Amino acid sequence: MIETTVFDTKPYDREYLGKVTGAARIAWRFHEFRLSAETASSAKGSQAVCIFVNDQADRECLKIIAAQGVKLIALRCAGFNNVDLAAAKEYGLAVVRVPAYSPHAVAEHTVGLLLTLNRKIHRAYNRVRELNFSLSGLVGFDIFGKTVGIIGTGKIGRIAAQIFRGFGAVVVAYDPFPSQEWATANGIQYVDLDTLLTASDIISLHVPLLAETRHLVNERSLSQMKQGVFIVNTSRGKLIDTTALIASLKTGHIGGVALDVYEEEEGVFFEDLSGKVLMDDALSHLLVFPNVLITAHQAFLTHEALSEIARVTTLNILSQEMNEPFLKGTTL
Ligand code: NAI
Repeated sequence: MIETTVFDTKPYDREYLGKVTGAARIAWRFHEFRLSAETASSAKGSQAVCIFVNDQADRECLKIIAAQGVKLIALRCAGFNNVDLAAAKEYGLAVVRVPAYSPHAVAEHTVGLLLTLNRKIHRAYNRVRELNFSLSGLVGFDIFGKTVGIIGTGKIGRIAAQIFRGFGAVVVAYDPFPSQEWATANGIQYVDLDTLLTASDIISLHVPLLAETRHLVNERSLSQMKQGVFIVNTSRGKLIDTTALIASLKTGHIGGVALDVYEEEEGVFFEDLSGKVLMDDALSHLLVFPNVLITAHQAFLTHEALSEIARVTTLNILSQEMNEPFLKGTTL
């Protein structure tokens, strides 16, 4: 049996990991709390730890888990900005992830958020339940004919771009590693970032969080955007400078913002804080704008994605035991 301590688990993690074929050879030890230097000692006796987007696998934490005999960190997600890879290497810890589970899940949620915000479906839903059938204040715009700027044309960005093409939008894209063949085949035009920022009616972020993408949306880039622009972020919260975003929202420059991720989401998103006092003033502020829509990092949350995350994570952990090469593309 491979002892595996799983951090930051929710009922759906336990359900999906438990039912994968082969998972019987793994002794899952589920914790609801997150991995950090403070909680690292709870991995004692495990060969592997399994973590998610908001666990903090920093140097101090990795030192503790390596000293306890852990050999593998299995991420149940694609992004790995929360793991100090250099320290992991130093401490002899292999790091594996699930590079793609369902790019469709995230791309479809992106479009769902935009439609909800633009057509005010969330407001209409509440109104109608109160028997208020008035349409005042619910005016949206057609996506057809609008210019959509996709920043990052990897797995998710490409699907989002193709869906927007299906609406009849003009889609422009920016990526330092463009795929001209894909763009031509789908009627999409690569442009430089400045052009994308100034030309787009809707901007959607699909880049990983890296030093160079942190605060990609900042005071300067916001000022370049069109009056009334809609911004969608389903990638990582730190791609947007929240303070600058709030300032832009207050001036009325931004038409709408749909977020599935938030700069300081750790400890807030994924948790039920109803009945508690929200201590994050910036988030409180964002929540009262009528043109801001927030979901709590749920873009990935489909049956297909959870099944794939559980399948690949299980195989990643079993590969460690069998001393077999990890699945293609999962090793960091
Ligand atoms: P990917 O690795 O397939 O694509 C990322 C793309 O970004 C690549 O084409 C890369 O060249 C490009 N890129 C890198 N630096 C850039 C820059 N400075 N400017 C523009 N483009 C740049 O990643 P994938 O699977 O498409 O995921 C995108 C992001 O979505 C992930 O990094 C993750 O942060 C986020 N995500 C969010 C989820 C959610 O539930 N909200 C679930 C899964 C992923």
